[in-house]
Amino acid sequence: MTRQKSPASRLNEDLSPLHWNDEAKAKLQLLDQRCLPNEERWLSYRDDAAVAEAIKTMVVRGAPAIGCAAAFALVLGAEGYPDDAQGFRHAFAASFERLAASRPTAVNLFWALDRQQKVMEHALASGADPRRALRDEALAIWREDIESCRQMGRHGAKLLGKDANVLTHCNAGALATGGYGTALGVIRAAHEAGQGVHVYADETRPYLQGARLTAWELQVSGIDVTLICDNMSGALMRQGAINTCIVGADRIAKNGDVANKIGTYMVAVLAARHGIPFYVAAPLSTIDLETADGDAIPIEERSAREVTHVGKERIAPEGVAVRHIAFDVTPAELVTAIITEAGVAEPPYEHSLPGLFSS
Ligand code: MRU
Repeated sequence: MTRQKSPASRLNEDLSPLHWNDEAKAKLQLLDQRCLPNEERWLSYRDDAAVAEAIKTMVVRGAPAIGCAAAFALVLGAEGYPDDAQGFRHAFAASFERLAASRPTAVNLFWALDRQQKVMEHALASGADPRRALRDEALAIWREDIESCRQMGRHGAKLLGKDANVLTHCNAGALATGGYGTALGVIRAAHEAGQGVHVYADETRPYLQGARLTAWELQVSGIDVTLICDNMSGALMRQGAINTCIVGADRIAKNGDVANKIGTYMVAVLAARHGIPFYVAAPLSTIDLETADGDAIPIEERSAREVTHVGKERIAPEGVAVRHIAFDVTPAELVTAIITEAGVAEPPYEHSLPGLFSS
């Protein structure tokens, strides 16, 4: 892994948290999201173990972006696998397991790994070059994700209408996807269509994805944004300052229960209390029809240090007991609609979500 700083113009042209260069020695570059908004630092990767570590340590985060990074990690790994089919399979399985162990909640990770496994098996069975097949599939996963976000944007912008005041939580933007964004993609599309949109960004304790990433991303994109602390949204809803809530998702169960960044459930409860629509924007790769409901979604717990410290600064007494639940589940009954690239699903989700896969 090497460090380099890219010109800021590169971000403005094409806001994506990753770049792939076939000609480079270290072909994958990830924007180090731990350094934002203070520094735009790109890290270069040459092997799958380093990418697994980058996912674990939040260099790259956000469900679809994690999936894209994992798909490319397998391409890097494959460069060092033995040439014989059995040896290749064996080494692929080890990379797969390492990546699968990086983060548990975002299903896009497992979706991308499974997709690459199928491609690898097909290539080996048909005598095609598995390295080439994995590389082509990773690029397809990345491009399709950006296109899905744009489609979500087109569907979702219609729901926002004119002059929306939108609350969002965490970062579900270009930084969290292949590019463009899910929840922020909908906002971006409304902005591009000239509908007029203003965003309230929850700071999103403890990791501050809202303050560090969403506020930065919207500023860079020229979209009107006001940063608020997580505990301010209720008061703003009561004042009538917010008329729509939109968030991303890490995994959506078959019944429409939504796992997303911790604090999302509180936003949904408040939205229901104030009669404000609560939308979830996510690609089909985030919908997990194998998981019946939210209780079956694995929820990541992260280190206490992310709660007791802000950056290097300790803000809690030494030795205090801490819980750091990184995601919560919003029950389907609180979700007004789920915006995907294949269309907008409405309750009852047991019926509408499977239908999206056949449309
Ligand atoms: O812990 P993170 O930053 O990976 O969590 C990200 C979120 O919860 C996002 O809201 C979610 O992945 C949707 S991203 C389009």
